Amino acid sequence: MAFESWRMTRAELREILNKYEKAVEDDAYNLLQPSAAERELLGDDLLRRRAQAVKKARDQNRRFVEAVIEDLPDLCAGPDAVLVPERPVAEVRSLGAGVTTLPSSSYGSLASVCLHCLRDWSTNCEHVSRTTYGPAVAELKALLPEGGEVLVPGAGLGRLALDLAAEGYRVEANDASRIFLTVADFLLNRAPAAGLQLFPLAHVFSENWGHAQQYLEISVPGPRPEALAAASLGAKAGGPAITLVPGDFVKTYEVGGPGHRKFNAIVTCFFMDTPADVEELFRVLDNLLEVGGVWVNIGPLNWRKEARLKLCWEEVVAIWERKGYEFTCQKRADCDYHLPRGEKMYTVDDATNRLARAVQKLGPEDFPARELANMLYAWGISKFQNPKMMNQFLDNAARRAFAFDAQGMANAVYSLGVIGFKHENFLNAVSEEMQGRLREFKTQELANTVYALGKLKFRSDDLLGAICDYVPDRLPEFNAQELSNTVLALSQVGFKHDGFLTAAAEHIPRRLKEFNTQNIANTIYAMGALGVTDATHAPFVVAVSGYVATRLPELHKEKLVNNVLDSLKVLQRRMARKPGSLQPGEEEKEGRTRRPPPTSSQHAARLLSRHRGDAKRAPWMSK
Ligand SMILES: C[S@@+](CC[C@H](N)C(=O)[O-])C[C@H]1O[C@@H](n2cnc3c(N)ncnc32)[C@H](O)[C@@H]1O
Repeated sequence: MAFESWRMTRAELREILNKYEKAVEDDAYNLLQPSAAERELLGDDLLRRRAQAVKKARDQNRRFVEAVIEDLPDLCAGPDAVLVPERPVAEVRSLGAGVTTLPSSSYGSLASVCLHCLRDWSTNCEHVSRTTYGPAVAELKALLPEGGEVLVPGAGLGRLALDLAAEGYRVEANDASRIFLTVADFLLNRAPAAGLQLFPLAHVFSENWGHAQQYLEISVPGPRPEALAAASLGAKAGGPAITLVPGDFVKTYEVGGPGHRKFNAIVTCFFMDTPADVEELFRVLDNLLEVGGVWVNIGPLNWRKEARLKLCWEEVVAIWERKGYEFTCQKRADCDYHLPRGEKMYTVDDATNRLARAVQKLGPEDFPARELANMLYAWGISKFQNPKMMNQFLDNAARRAFAFDAQGMANAVYSLGVIGFKHENFLNAVSEEMQGRLREFKTQELANTVYALGKLKFRSDDLLGAICDYVPDRLPEFNAQELSNTVLALSQVGFKHDGFLTAAAEHIPRRLKEFNTQNIANTIYAMGALGVTDATHAPFVVAVSGYVATRLPELHKEKLVNNVLDSLKVLQRRMARKPGSLQPGEEEKEGRTRRPPPTSSQHAARLLSRHRGDAKRAPWMSK
């Protein structure tokens, strides 16, 4: 059998590798060989780290490509060289010797392949499955539940094609780029079981937050293609899961083309805007579908310069309706391509704002924000007390709160909480700064900040409102201590927020097993103080009461039974009331005159009451 012309030869792939390395070296050149002034500015440490990262990525990416090169037939081995390898996952159907492929200027670079390795075959790109491939597969399943033959034009490295096969479709994956086809064939069929390491963004010198983003290391392929293929129809018949068909889509599948036949469905993903002649593309797609056939498309309308018709979506819809198709679904989807939102600077909404503000020049009396933050943190650890000096530094810090990172702000506020130093000016500045930057905070930083504000009895309704609006979606990320501290702190400053309270009342019962006894005591007390009422939060009260009964010995031992009982009593009394019938502060008075109805939580309270006696109040509850 002859050498498959759609594959690259070893020499061609080596040439592409050289081009890639040269381009990276050119972009990195001045970072690797800085002028004296540049060296002085960047400092030896950063420059050394950069050089190490460039080299490590270059060497590893070279090893990756060499593995693909090694997998290609060695033409110099003569006529006996093995020209067609094993293909257990993706067989290749080559439609004749004259397969038309793309010129090397189009989808012909290693850079593009690297990005697609990240997108399709790394576990870092779970977001692509969730936001792009998953919805496309789901749409097809809704319209073609009984399965069928599906064509995926412009299939790239084949992940979507394999996902479709795993759902029971017979899939033909077409692509016209020789390097994409070569790498897809290798990754799908013969990649080493341990995977290959790759630095897919090493060539991307723009919009990086730090070295860690640009020198992200991935293991390819992940997941393993054969694992996905195991669910396919091909696997059941003992054959490959998908068929790769090399060749220009239009030339291969147009009427009279070597690949032309009818399919039950076509799925295009980030492909519709690639050809220059979209009318021709649509004609070919249309002719491949029978009546009842389905076309699922997901991706942008990011037309190339050469595109004849740079259509908007409305025009795309009009054309297809004129061809006799009915749109069953048109949705907007937030599809980030290779990287999830936030990994690149331009995908964060307030990046420009932050960057513009970050260039403020320091005065002679100004400390760099990081040093200030470290110092404030050290005060907390050492319980430092020197009000005069602290006021000076904190006034300075207040003017430049914007320059603090999230960790710096959280540590500084936490420290002030620990030493009980309420510097209004600094706290106000942090409150204002934090509101627009909550996404930058880890849950521990959020919880510590709220906790410290609570301890300091510092109440900024704007900040607390923003936190309470923001936090519900992230509650599952909070650990028990963080959850407990947050509700306790809100109760300490008396900040009631219906949305937060409802989310917390729903979430906390599911996590109670993770709570220690102090967390339980604090949380029940705080939820009561925050206004848990009868109808809306009854499930919370019931769940918590029931759960407390299971932790009685511990609560008793820790001398927290009385606290918990008192708090539960407040909640249980409210369960006897109609929603909204209590006024703030009314609960104790009302509780004395009304008997709550029998409930399962009351049963728990009865159980609890046997354990009363020597319990003492936790310090935060002391009157
Ligand atoms: C933007 S990439 C998308 C790849 C894949 N569908 C995805 O979503 O990751 C476009 C793909 O279409 C392929 N392609 C471009 N023009 C083509 C053509 N005329 N015929 C077949 N494939 C083509 C490219 O090689 C590339 O793999």
